[in-house]
Amino acid sequence: MRALFFLASLGFAAAEDGLDGWLRYASLPCSGQCQSKLPANIVVFNATETSPVYVAGSERQAGIQSIYGIQPHISHNQCKSSSSAIVVGTVHQYRKTCGSRDVPELEEDGFWLSTEANRIYILGQMNVGNFSEVSYSTNPSAPIRWVNQWDNIDGRIERGYGGPSIFFKDGAIISDLTRVRQYARLLSSIRINAVVVNNLNANATLLTPANLKGLGRIADTFRPYGVQVGISLNFASPEDLGGLSTFDPLDSSVISWWSNITKHVYQHVPDMAGYLVKADSEGQPGPQTYSRTLSQGANLFGKALQPYGGIVMFRAFVYNQLNESVWTADRANAAVNFFKDLDGEFDENVVVQIKYGPIDFQVREPASPLFANLFNTSTAIELEVTQEYLGQQSHLLYLPPLWKTILDFDLRVDGKPSLVRDVVTGKRFNRKLGGSAAVVNVGTNTTWLGSHLSMSNLYAYGRLAWNPADDAQAMLQDWIRLTFGLDRTVLSTITKMSMDSWPAYEAYSGNLGIQTLTDILYTHYGPNPASQDNNGWGQWTRADHTGIGMDRTVSKGTGFAGQYPSEIAAMYENIDTTPDNLLLWFHHVEYMHSLHSGKSVIQHFYDAHYSGAETVQTFLSQWESLKGKIDDERYEHVLRRLEYQAGHSIVWRDAINNFYYNLSGIPDTAKRVGHHPWRIEAESMQLEGYKAYTINPFETASGSVAIVTAANDTMGTATTQIKFPSGTYDLAVNHYDIDGGQSHWQAYLNDKQIVPGVKVNKGDALKIVGKPDGVEPAPLDYVAFLPDGVVD
Ligand SMILES: *[C@@H]1O[C@H](CO)[C@@H](O)[C@H](O)[C@H]1NC(C)=O
Ligand SMILES: *[C@@H]1O[C@H](CO)[C@@H](O)[C@H](O)[C@H]1NC(C)=O
Ligand SMILES: *[C@@H]1O[C@H](CO)[C@@H](O)[C@H](O)[C@H]1NC(C)=O
Ligand SMILES: *[C@@H]1O[C@H](CO)[C@@H](O)[C@H](O)[C@H]1NC(C)=O
Ligand SMILES: *[C@@H]1O[C@H](CO)[C@@H](O)[C@H](O)[C@H]1NC(C)=O
Ligand SMILES: *[C@@H]1O[C@H](CO)[C@@H](O)[C@H](O)[C@H]1NC(C)=O
Ligand SMILES: *[C@@H]1O[C@H](CO)[C@@H](O)[C@H](O)[C@H]1NC(C)=O
Ligand SMILES: *[C@@H]1O[C@H](CO)[C@@H](O)[C@H](O)[C@H]1NC(C)=O
Ligand SMILES: *[C@@H]1O[C@H](CO)[C@@H](O)[C@H](O)[C@H]1NC(C)=O
Repeated sequence: MRALFFLASLGFAAAEDGLDGWLRYASLPCSGQCQSKLPANIVVFNATETSPVYVAGSERQAGIQSIYGIQPHISHNQCKSSSSAIVVGTVHQYRKTCGSRDVPELEEDGFWLSTEANRIYILGQMNVGNFSEVSYSTNPSAPIRWVNQWDNIDGRIERGYGGPSIFFKDGAIISDLTRVRQYARLLSSIRINAVVVNNLNANATLLTPANLKGLGRIADTFRPYGVQVGISLNFASPEDLGGLSTFDPLDSSVISWWSNITKHVYQHVPDMAGYLVKADSEGQPGPQTYSRTLSQGANLFGKALQPYGGIVMFRAFVYNQLNESVWTADRANAAVNFFKDLDGEFDENVVVQIKYGPIDFQVREPASPLFANLFNTSTAIELEVTQEYLGQQSHLLYLPPLWKTILDFDLRVDGKPSLVRDVVTGKRFNRKLGGSAAVVNVGTNTTWLGSHLSMSNLYAYGRLAWNPADDAQAMLQDWIRLTFGLDRTVLSTITKMSMDSWPAYEAYSGNLGIQTLTDILYTHYGPNPASQDNNGWGQWTRADHTGIGMDRTVSKGTGFAGQYPSEIAAMYENIDTTPDNLLLWFHHVEYMHSLHSGKSVIQHFYDAHYSGAETVQTFLSQWESLKGKIDDERYEHVLRRLEYQAGHSIVWRDAINNFYYNLSGIPDTAKRVGHHPWRIEAESMQLEGYKAYTINPFETASGSVAIVTAANDTMGTATTQIKFPSGTYDLAVNHYDIDGGQSHWQAYLNDKQIVPGVKVNKGDALKIVGKPDGVEPAPLDYVAFLPDGVVD
């Protein structure tokens, strides 16, 4: 038994830092009647404090105490008592102690809930907060419901946006694992059953005896919550750490090295879930060094783990650098090319872990065709709670609607229904193993992910791993109620913002399947469309002066469309049957190509970027309507993020539009792109202590140029005379935010600090004073005076 489920907590409390996530157990208003209906006792069928059953009982007690203000009494292993009780245990133990009773067939981790007379039975593997007269059982869709941490053992997290690791520091395991325990509680409540604790770009020193001991402590911390631990391995460890002269997977010394290591790992973690392996990918070593196949590499670990019941998650993210001048070269082809012929060659305990799309966590991708090419191999889908490419938790982006485009996609293998979710759960091809893994970048920040609203993605991931058919909005609303209470305005507002967030992000980043258009070379954040092309990474757009898009047809392109089963291949091969939202993924077209919508590609870009950025401005006002309905601490934290996003979405909008306007030379029919009548460019002002600075890439500054302070310890001043008609305006000061400093800007009108609602007269003197901080030279792009209703 592994998974446990906790009582729903509802209601609204004072200042909150986010540490309890959705398990706040906020008190609920309730008359004495509601308390008197609550069970007086909790009967727990295991008295061992570290047992998941015991923990489930205690958690229940804490929940009732916190929500209703009464503390049920905990007792153990009593079959009969006259008073009302919640009964928590495994079916096996209950039957053993109390004799047989009817419980529906449960699979591993499944659970049954029943209310009978004055007792609530929570048996098998679970427990739920629903006191109505019900009998209810549920089973997981798949046995693999994992999360992957990308935590390095030096304490940094790859793509971590919520502070440093809760597991590692300075090459060792942290001594105080309090945060790990709190994380275990959250994961357990969403039925996650394993966590791979270290980055798949793995450091072999995790396997030193001291670190294995630490790993044992981590596993001891997760175990009472029914969550197992797994680890990522570096394929070259036998050489790097073991001092062997080879890491050839068929070499007998390598095989025995891994089998010895595995034995030691299991000595410290007897119930370890398994290994995660990234091999022959992005510079990581792998079996191809020795001309061995990927399956030979995977089976090396499969065989080492087999005696202990462990699983190998072997990543399909394998590709090579390519030459863009070759029209038929395509990174999207790689996974099927590498893995298709290996179908049936993987050991029974090996699962191929496949990213949802063929490239890399982009804002929209077609489902990976590898899901339709492995029939005799267990597979799992890799999703990403971490918002790499997707706004890094500084942009609101509720991801399940994106995930559902893949999970619910029908691949039509052999002309039969073949939803991706039925492939990965093992149902479609009758595989015992399968499921999902999500990359999660929780850190030491009390918000876990750096942003309160991003936690909806972690919550919903767990729900989908259990049941991938769950509805994106329904899961979201459960999360909102648990996290922010029952207020109807709060519920409807956060629902609307979240459900609009992915379409908005897609609208102001990359459209029509062109990928996200973030910088792909380093930060994976912010607009940089030029970074996609002219390099070997294969995330190309092939944009030039006349057209854009990857031709992935079989007839004249890379052939990628042909990797799908025939019905799907035919749909994508034909430009007329390819959906607009993936047009540029599959076809290279001229900018004036007409979409199904009737718009040209370029005008769609312009319009989408304006509407996406506009939607984000409304997030801010929607959130402001919740002031007083949410505790101030979380309200303010979210508000700061949304203010930032509102500004950054305009940067995105203008950057992408300027870039493609520059490339195509085709103007916006609505005359917005390149026209900013309410802006004052900073570089056009009189500068003192400030100097002009040409921004690279050019499209990320209004007019390509910004200003920075001449020295990093002296303030800069920019002044100008206002030429706009006298009136009342919103003032926008568009500045840059660089890592490693917190500059300040102050705006003055006729030497008086500007306050909201101030009236502006033509001829007034505007002065901006920028105060640099650290390496951030108070960079300023433009100032805008915005009449009511104008956003620029
Ligand atoms: C109680 O839980 C412990 C720890 O999980 C387990 O080893 C033991 O078998 C359980 N006891 C019973 C009676 O189920
Ligand atoms: C309680 O559970 C039943 C059966 O699953 C369900 O129909 C009902 O909606 C639940 N009630 C609440 C308040 O969750
Ligand atoms: C692996 O970790 C060790 C110990 O922290 C460190 O010295 C080494 O530089 C790391 N190796 C890599 C490749 O990061
Ligand atoms: C087996 O692994 C342990 C743990 O890393 C190590 O201390 C020991 O030296 C290894 N033994 C052999 C024969 O490699
Ligand atoms: C890339 O392909 C072009 C066209 O085939 C060829 O001329 C060029 O040499 C190739 N570049 C490299 C680095 O292989
Ligand atoms: C699956 O693999 C097994 C051996 O690993 C083989 O006997 C069987 O024919 C394969 N089935 C299919 C459908 O390829
Ligand atoms: C958490 O993040 C917020 C900003 O998102 C920051 O203000 C705060 O200092 C961080 N706290 C910790 C403990 O990292
Ligand atoms: C694109 O930018 C280049 C370099 O800044 C410039 O020379 C060119 O005129 C621009 N083209 C258009 C259509 O704006
Ligand atoms: C100021 O700038 C200089 C030169 O760029 C840099 O070396 C120095 O570290 C900066 N000072 C601070 C406090 O960041």
